[in-house]
Amino acid sequence: MTSRYDAAYRRSLADPEGFWGEAARAIDWVAAPTRVLDRDRPSGRWFPDGVLNTCWNALDRHVAAGRGGQAALVWDSPVTGTVARITYGELRDRVAVFAGALARLGVGKGDRVVVYMPMVPEAVVAMLACARLGAIHSVVFGGFAAPELATRLDDATPKVVVSASCGIEVNRVVAYKPLLDRAIELATAKPAHCVILQRPQQAATLVAGRDLSWEDAIAGAAPHACVPVAATDPLYILYTSGTTGQPKGIVRDNGGHAVALRWSMANIYAVEPGETMFTASDVGWVVGHSYIVYAPLLTGATTVLYEGKPVGTPDAGAFWRVIADHRAAVMFTAPTAFRAIKREDPEGRLLAGHDLSRFRALFLAGERADPPTVEWAQELLKLPIIDHWWQTETGWPIAANCMGLGLLPVKAGSPTRAVPGWDVRCLDAAGEEAKRGDVGALAMRLPLPPGALATLWNAEDRFRQAYLAAFPGYYQTGDAGFVDDDAYIHVMARTDDIINVAGHRLSTGAMEEVLAGHPDVAECAVIGVADELKGQVPLGLLVLKAGVGRSDAEVAKEVVQRVRDRIGPVAAFKTAVVVQRLPKTRSGKILRGTMRAIADGQEWRMPATIDDPATLQEIGAALSGIGYGRG
Ligand code: COA
Ligand code: AMP
Repeated sequence: MTSRYDAAYRRSLADPEGFWGEAARAIDWVAAPTRVLDRDRPSGRWFPDGVLNTCWNALDRHVAAGRGGQAALVWDSPVTGTVARITYGELRDRVAVFAGALARLGVGKGDRVVVYMPMVPEAVVAMLACARLGAIHSVVFGGFAAPELATRLDDATPKVVVSASCGIEVNRVVAYKPLLDRAIELATAKPAHCVILQRPQQAATLVAGRDLSWEDAIAGAAPHACVPVAATDPLYILYTSGTTGQPKGIVRDNGGHAVALRWSMANIYAVEPGETMFTASDVGWVVGHSYIVYAPLLTGATTVLYEGKPVGTPDAGAFWRVIADHRAAVMFTAPTAFRAIKREDPEGRLLAGHDLSRFRALFLAGERADPPTVEWAQELLKLPIIDHWWQTETGWPIAANCMGLGLLPVKAGSPTRAVPGWDVRCLDAAGEEAKRGDVGALAMRLPLPPGALATLWNAEDRFRQAYLAAFPGYYQTGDAGFVDDDAYIHVMARTDDIINVAGHRLSTGAMEEVLAGHPDVAECAVIGVADELKGQVPLGLLVLKAGVGRSDAEVAKEVVQRVRDRIGPVAAFKTAVVVQRLPKTRSGKILRGTMRAIADGQEWRMPATIDDPATLQEIGAALSGIGYGRG
């Protein structure tokens, strides 16, 4: 018998126009699209003549349909001891006023607004206000340092930056405003204005003429109506790590995004209007954009905005409390969060006493879901634990066990099968489809479904080069893996220098650029080594210039601080070790993969192309000196 999933999957590929044309009916259009897909771009352009407003679909339409009194957003902030419920009616009003405030500062359709905020409702208000105006938001994660923010300011050239005086981590208050001031100093593109939310935990100093407080910005602002935009107009830019220090500005359109996310809520997550979704991530990441902000609100569901951690705020029972208190139907987070909970409360004792009767499933993504963690969660919760695979670029899941289409049997270590819309193939080096079970590059046949990236901001050539050039006719994900006999996808590793640290995507290449800039460093390499909690952490290997008059430990400490200052604490770069030389091939390529295998204590083979085998012995000794490898 054909399952609902099979039928949907086949139809999505055989008749994408029919499939997505039907899905588009779940969205309110100012002008309904008469065409579903234009193939004039290799990756596809969805609903090319459709006109809509994403904010209308996320807020106003639900108020108009009688959901004005339902909670749209619950802000649960253990770090400030606050729980606040904001109804659809209230959120619509707050967003309309803030849109009016932005308009008064000169923001209009197509203008960019950078949002550098902690997990507070105003972050969501700012994003939706941009959507309301047809302006393009670019949210930058708060754990990034000033130079990273400056790079994004220069690329996005925003008229306005919306920020806050501070963020609150478990053990400290992080002053955001000095980071923002420093970033603006470093950037060539200076925003005309900054709107700063003054938080009671720490006030910020405002720059006269440029900065205004959130309160002052909204004082007397007239609520702004929704501005109709083309389905193909950009809704947001979200920067993500590429293989260099220059991040990629992923551009998401309005129409395809709304259609795909609304479809995903019903068919992947099986969340109905009126139900609650709790996504523990950050609005600075794609997971936060899609499943804290847009998808739940497009659905008329309630979203939980959680300003806290899985552990330490106050303990490893925090997620259970949030699920119970807000009656969440599904939760979504990264496996690392569950590893943290498991480490602190292996018996799951803190689950006791919480009413999880409405809780139906836990979704995990952002990194490979390791089977022991999945099994632990399964044993404890006795619910479907659903690993699903996606990327900033795709905006929503590529592979998942689609709960709304009937669950398929689970295979540990696999995010199950391709989601309708995604024609996933595993390719060998020649670009031919690999045999089932053989590892290759995971790629999608073009066109991509709605909701996938449209291009890179101001970098169409880089978009084509980075994603479409390697395998003509395909989008390359940058992930390696295989497809098994049952069409289950197995994601094994990245094919580039991206590493995944606590579900955060980081470029080792960008870290090497920072290390190489230290005056005493002649050469360096950064590798991602296995970490029990974070999945991977970066490790730096340094070769110093001749005649450096300071100790190795001093230089190592300085480069650690340098990465923290230039990329940010989120890089979790804590270890660097000085070595005499780096192992290389005869053509001069650094053997990062072999060093990684040695550090992880895995079997490794001497590469035939190595220039000097003794270098690997030296590296082995240096790594074992700091506790890596087999000692
Ligand atoms: N603003 C400022 N600093 C931030 C920050 C923010 N928004 N978010 C994180 N940081 C800092 C942290 O304070 C920490 O700094 P430290 O080195 O001084 O301790 C550093 O960045 C690393 O943060 P994090 O990755 O959160 O690690 P952690 O050690 O504080 O906590 C976990 C470990 C597993 C509990 C945590 O990583 C976690 O909850 N992960 C969930 C991952 C997730 O949501 N991923 C999103 C994709 S789904
Ligand atoms: P990001 O763009 O930050 O969401 O990171 C995307 C990358 O994280 C992917 O390309 C994968 O390398 C990895 N990733 C995300 N989800 C999974 C998953 N379920 N299994 C394995 N890897 C994953």
